[in-house]
This record gives sequence, structure tokens and C-alpha cells, in this order.
Amino acid sequence: MCGIVGYLGNKNTKEILLSGLKELEYRGYDSAGIAVLQDGEFSNYKAVGKLVNLEEKTKNFITDKFAIGIGHTRWATHGKPTELNAHPHLGESSYVVHNGIIENYAELKQELQKDGIKFLSQTDTEVIVHQFEKNLLASGDEFEAFSKTISELEGAYATLIVTKSLPDTIFFAKHGSPMLVGVNDENEKFFASSDSPLIGLAKEVNYFEDGDYGYVTKGELVIFDKDGNKSKPNFSQLSTDKLSAQKDGYRFFMEKEIYEQSDVIADTLLGRLSDEEIMFDEIDKNLFNGINEIKLCACGTSYHSALSASYLFERYSKIRCSVEIASEFRYRSPIMSKDTLFVVISQSGETADTLETLKMAKKAGLRTLVICNVDNSSMVRLADACILTRAGIEKGVASTKAFATQVTVFWMLSLYVAKLRNSLSRDELKHQIHLLREIPVATIVSDDMHERIKRLSKRYLHGHGFFFIGRDIFFPLALEGALKLKEISYLHAEGYPSGEMKHGPIALADPELFTIALLPEHLLYEKSKSNVEELSARDSTICAISSKEFDKADDFIKINSSKDYMLEFFEMMIAVQLLSLEISIRLGNDVDMPRNLAKSVTVE
Ligand code: G6P
Repeated sequence: MCGIVGYLGNKNTKEILLSGLKELEYRGYDSAGIAVLQDGEFSNYKAVGKLVNLEEKTKNFITDKFAIGIGHTRWATHGKPTELNAHPHLGESSYVVHNGIIENYAELKQELQKDGIKFLSQTDTEVIVHQFEKNLLASGDEFEAFSKTISELEGAYATLIVTKSLPDTIFFAKHGSPMLVGVNDENEKFFASSDSPLIGLAKEVNYFEDGDYGYVTKGELVIFDKDGNKSKPNFSQLSTDKLSAQKDGYRFFMEKEIYEQSDVIADTLLGRLSDEEIMFDEIDKNLFNGINEIKLCACGTSYHSALSASYLFERYSKIRCSVEIASEFRYRSPIMSKDTLFVVISQSGETADTLETLKMAKKAGLRTLVICNVDNSSMVRLADACILTRAGIEKGVASTKAFATQVTVFWMLSLYVAKLRNSLSRDELKHQIHLLREIPVATIVSDDMHERIKRLSKRYLHGHGFFFIGRDIFFPLALEGALKLKEISYLHAEGYPSGEMKHGPIALADPELFTIALLPEHLLYEKSKSNVEELSARDSTICAISSKEFDKADDFIKINSSKDYMLEFFEMMIAVQLLSLEISIRLGNDVDMPRNLAKSVTVE
């Protein structure tokens, strides 16, 4: 998501800000900007799209003396990715950059507008700078105004403010979004959202705690804690390895991405839920006019999220839904009827087979929609409509957070269509929306669960195969669990419907056959349990994942008891991801770049 940088010193401020932003590119963004105060004058540049556009715009801008500067890469949440919405945001004589969400921005904005303040952007961020200037006008003291402003903000933020009347000071505050400050012997100060931009520049760094705020000048770094007490910086040495810095202390990108799921799902939901309906501002409701079937088409993990979606569309939207593997679909002379909405799902938006099916559907005159993680990708450009999943850049070849956000979008979309088709009661819709809001909590990785999986993974490093089994929507999750394990452990694994094991695979059952059984409390529990008992009776080694203790299991991974099967789905998703991760690590494999696989498969 968004990235922040800041610099105070005598060196080339523009270059330091731009190269810092470059280091934060991996967080994902759709516009960028910088503001520099030098010789008492502000210079501000913004550009939509990649950083090269900002570099181009700033190519004649020279920073060769003492200056203060702030920069930002923005991943659009409130308002489209336009130059006006890009940070830094200007007040009368101050600039702000911000990462996070100001939850009470609408109230603050209303008050400021009553005072005659004009807003240029649609962002929540802009209120910070106007609120600061309002407070400055009242108190006449910059730091007092800044502290007051921070105390008035609700939500999550990391923010930097610079103002003309104090040309040697940068104000900072952190609450809920990451930020650190770095210092060196030359009295330079550096800010960033993660430590990689500071490597090679700062000697030591202080990671801010939630509630920290303060300011830097050439000679000072002043920090106050959440209770308003002055606190000493807690300096640590910076890693010298950029790659490991980007991993934020996790062993692999895949592990980091599993842990990020709670946050990115919150981003996926952002601005799309009200108490009574789902809002996708980016699509036109007419897209569904006259549509009697939804056809989903994808590859790999995205195919599994499509399969999950088919259960939701039929259950909630009461619309016929079919799912296709793209590489099959494109060569099998499929029937394409005009009352079908053709939906492609892709993390990258570039997968050759999926892209080709989208072209086929367009050619056949079908209406098309893409669910994608990469804006401006080929599929996004081609489809009639697009919903972005907002997972941020996914680096691990084995997809995790992309899958989680795809399923989140599909759950929302099934309710969106349900409302259009009147297929759910008002109360049921409200209840479902209430459940959606709980996914970010359900996907927080618990230390206990991770530790348990780490320990039991040592028993699953051999054997003649794994069966991941589940029923209903837990069948696609079983497929996804098996795919994760195959991809990074190179062990043979299959996903199977629990009730289908007796029609063949049960012949394989013996202690060396590992069954990973998904047993949700709120969906067909008794039926799934009987299927697992049949395997246990034939001495297959069972690892059950459930909120309910299961005495026939050899190993048990406990998830939290929750209200609904979909919340269990998300918790079990984390469990199967972690299980694959830990098995792969024990086997000494390259988790992030497994052999023979590519992140984006742009060939047939
Ligand atoms: C590759 C990746 C998978 C991914 C699949 C589809 O095989 O390794 O992780 O699921 O492509 O990619 P897409 O970008 O279309 O979702």
C-alpha cells in the first residue's frame, strides 16, 4: 500500500526522495509525489502511474543545498488515482503526506468547509493539512498546532508535515501504519515506511511505536509517546541487506504475505461496505442487466478462488455459475451465450491463457469483467469492467494474499448481485455484511497456531502423498491447500471432495497417506466428519483442521470458534498456507522461488 519518505539535510534531496520511493515500490501504488522546501520556497511535483513519470517531471528540478522534503507513493483508496488526489497535499503554506485511513475525515472536512476552506482532492488526507493550519492560526505555534491536530485524528496513520514558517523542521506522527526515522553523523534525518530506503544512508534507526509524534530539525529528534511524555529514541543498527529489509523480518516473502492478509483484506473492503449494501463504484449496475449466468475463467490459484465463488454466487445471488480452466476453455469450442457475464480472475492480469479467453469472450460479444490485482494490466485494459483486489504487490510465487482478496471480492460481489436480484432478505444481507467486516480479524495469524504448525510440520516431510479434503466451498480450499504444498514442498498432494474419497482414493489409505481434513463447524460438519472417520478406520494419518476437537485425528490444528462457515474458511486458509510454508522450510526449499514455477505465466 502507500509509502512515505522524508529527508532533512544538505545532500540532493530530490534524489534521496525519489530513490526512497523506488525502494517502496513493492508496496504497490498508482501515483506519486514530492514536496521540497528549499530557500524558503516550496516545490511540488506529482504524477500518476509509475515513478518514471515523476522522475520525468522533476528532471529539471535541482536540489543542491539544505532542504526538507517529503514524498509519497499512493495506492488509491478515497478517490481515484489522479494528480489532484496524489500526495503531498497542500494547505495555504504546508504540505502533508499520509499513509493509512482517517476515519473521521468526513466530520473534520465538514467543519473545515464551514470555515470556508476549499478542498482540492477527494482524499481523507487533505483534512490533516487544513486542520493543522486552522490550529496554527489559532495558537501561533507550529508544534502545538501539530500536536492538537494529531489528537483530533481518528483511524490509522503515519504522517509527515512540513510548513513554510519552519523551514528546518519535519513533523511526524505514527498510529497504526508503519514508519521509522534514521539519523547519521552528518545531522541528516530520514523517514520511511520501511527500512529499505534508509539502507546506506542512515547510521541507526528508530522504529516509531503507535502514538509516537514529534519533530526533527538538523540538531534534534524529539519524540513524544502516546501519553504526551517525551521519550528517548530507541536506536538500532540497520540491516545492510536490502532484500531482507523488504521482508520486514520475515524469513520469506510468502510468510510476510500470509501475515499481511488481514491488512490487505481490510483494504479490499475499504469504502465498499455500508450497513445495507455492497458498493462497487467502479462497475455499472447495468453490467448485470439481462444476465442469467456467470462464467468464471482462470488458472492456478485464481481458478480455485473462482471455484469458491461459484458456491457463493449460487447460494447467495441465486444465479447459475460455471467455472472454467482457461487453458481448457480456449480450445474446446465452448458455447457462449449473450446472457452470460464472462468473468476472468487473475492476480497479474497477464496470464496468457486467461487473457486469451477474455479475448474470445469479447469477440463473441459477451459482457466481461476482470477481478485483478494489477491495475493497467492487459486484462484490466481489455475487459468492460474491472474490480481491483488491492492485495499490494505479491512477491512469493505461491500466491496467498492474492487468493484471500479474490475470495473477499467474490463474497462481496455475490452479495452485490444478490441485492440486484433480490435473492436475499434485507436482514440476511445485513448479516452477511456484518460477517464480511470480521474477515480482517479472522485472518490475523495467531502465534499459537503458527507455533503449533511449525512443530507438527516435522511429521509431514515424507509419505506417499497428501489428500486435502473438504466439502462445499471447503473443497476449492482443499484444492488450494494441496496446490500450495505441491508448489513449494514438491511433495505429491491432491485436493479432493471429502465425500468422493470412497470412490477410489480410499484405496490408497495407509499410515503413510496423509489426510489434511477441513472440518468446518458451520457447514456439513457431521457429513465431513464421517468421511474422515472412514479414512481413519483405514489407518490413514489424519491432520484435522477445525474449531471442534476431533478424537479420530492424529494431529489437530485448532482454529477459533466463529459465527459462520466463511470466517472458518479464512482461518483454515491461513492454516493450510502455514502448513505448506513450514514443510517447505524444513525441506530446505526456496519458498519464494520454487523450482520450475513463474509468478506470471505470459506464455501458453
Ligand atoms: C502462475 C502462478 C500461480 C498463479 C497462476 C495464475 O502459475 O505461479 O500462483 O495462480 O499463474 O496467475 P494469475 O496472475 O492469472 O492469477
